[in-house]
Amino acid sequence: MDWSSLYPAFIGKEANGVNGKGMSPEVEVADIGCGFGGLLVGLAPLMPQTLMVGMELRSQVTEFVINKIAALRSQNRDQQPSVSGTPTPYQNISAIRTNTMKFLPNYFHKAQLSKIFLCFPDPHFKQRKHKARIASAQLNAEYAFVTKPGGLVYTITDVEELSQWMAKHFVGEEAGDAKELWERVSQEELDADPCVKIMSEETEESKKVTRNGGNKYIVVLRRKQTPDWPE
Ligand SMILES: C[S@@+](CC[C@H](N)C(=O)[O-])C[C@H]1O[C@@H](n2cnc3c(N)ncnc32)[C@H](O)[C@@H]1O
Repeated sequence: MDWSSLYPAFIGKEANGVNGKGMSPEVEVADIGCGFGGLLVGLAPLMPQTLMVGMELRSQVTEFVINKIAALRSQNRDQQPSVSGTPTPYQNISAIRTNTMKFLPNYFHKAQLSKIFLCFPDPHFKQRKHKARIASAQLNAEYAFVTKPGGLVYTITDVEELSQWMAKHFVGEEAGDAKELWERVSQEELDADPCVKIMSEETEESKKVTRNGGNKYIVVLRRKQTPDWPE
């Protein structure tokens, strides 16, 4: 995967090494099923040196996000960066069209990501459609592969049953062996994490749920150190 066209200010010829260190950063945050990109835009100023990617199945929606980011980059090109030595705002976010259920491990190496977001995933209510859900034993093992020990998977939904489903498929019997790889993050930690506030308020779906007075169910999982599996 050549990331330089997505983050030219950070990676490749134009970047010339961020902070003069000569090393290109890697993508560390993935928003899976990013929709219209509100989360990325909300997170961009919070972590101006971290590269973040939205991954979205629908091509027109992805194109919308890419155009929105291009416009934000252009509007802010004369702005002072919030951290000196970093590129101007919004250079650290981008989006790609892909089916993460099929291709996630093609984009990231082992332990690359520090945060994955699963915000308001499609609920697929019918039993026979559950296999299309974005959390499952197999997918959670893939998330575990690409996430660093200590890294976090953030989930939020307005469907209580789906939230319980996601939790069970990370840390319950439904997760199979992958349950050894995750632990649930405490409410205290969630209250102190600015990413939780942003994901609860800035995604397009979260705004819709707020408008309609709906509930939001949040479960965050931490990637544990890989245990010594028996041979
Ligand atoms: C209900 S929307 C939520 C969008 C956004 N996360 C938000 O909170 O506003 C779910 C999104 O996930 C995308 N999606 C569903 N399955 C996907 C997959 N396998 N790979 C990538 N995106 C997917 C859909 O196209 C849709 O845009």
